Amino acid sequence: MEIKQAVFTISNSDAKKIPTDREEFAFIGRSNVGKSSLINMLVGNKKLAKTSGKPGKTQLINHFLINEKWYLVDLPGYGYAKASKTSRFAWEKFISEYLTGSKQLMNVFVLLDSRLEPQKIDLEFMNWCGERGIPFSMVFTKIDKISSTVLQKNLAKYKREMLKYWEVMPPHFSTSSESSFGKEKILNYIGEILSDLKE
Ligand code: GTP
Ligand code: MG
Repeated sequence: MEIKQAVFTISNSDAKKIPTDREEFAFIGRSNVGKSSLINMLVGNKKLAKTSGKPGKTQLINHFLINEKWYLVDLPGYGYAKASKTSRFAWEKFISEYLTGSKQLMNVFVLLDSRLEPQKIDLEFMNWCGERGIPFSMVFTKIDKISSTVLQKNLAKYKREMLKYWEVMPPHFSTSSESSFGKEKILNYIGEILSDLKE
């Protein structure tokens, strides 16, 4: 899969106004984990999605049209500021409405900080997706910041945790938006999902 064109289309806080015309691939995870940076890395444009060193930068649902055919969707992070105690994922109703309501959502990439051991909020979020039949895969971010030994150790811990709930480890990718590591694998994964649809 090659990205020839990436164009910002629309920002939304209302799930009802979201485009319903094309396949979508969304990026989610805790604030500051690197969602917007990963989108920029995939499309090869550092300025497409807004990034920041401070958590809470992305506040809306942002659609980017790729090759005039499908969307990459940048979402706000969870686990920051407004998260309520009663429901950790009622963080913004419009996001859960979008994730559960979109018929074009092909895959949610759940971003996980590769430097950290499995985090409760991320495990809960993936189970939340599983219970609702939302297809997801795991993306470990910022691998340029750690040694491969630490990365392997954290991946093994994640695998152990996931296998408590899942029969197999979901598809997973290691990435760095600094070095572009993982770019081809993620783009090929998206390409395969899109070409399976046509068959
Ligand atoms: P919110 O929109 O606030 O939820 O954050 P986000 O998940 O979109 O994170 P964002 O892409 O804005 O990145 C947060 C910070 O992490 C920025 O300072 C990025 O430069 C940095 N960052 C993101 N990905 C990487 C990476 O792969 N390597 C390194 N070294 N830094 C990264
Ligand atoms: Mg962001």
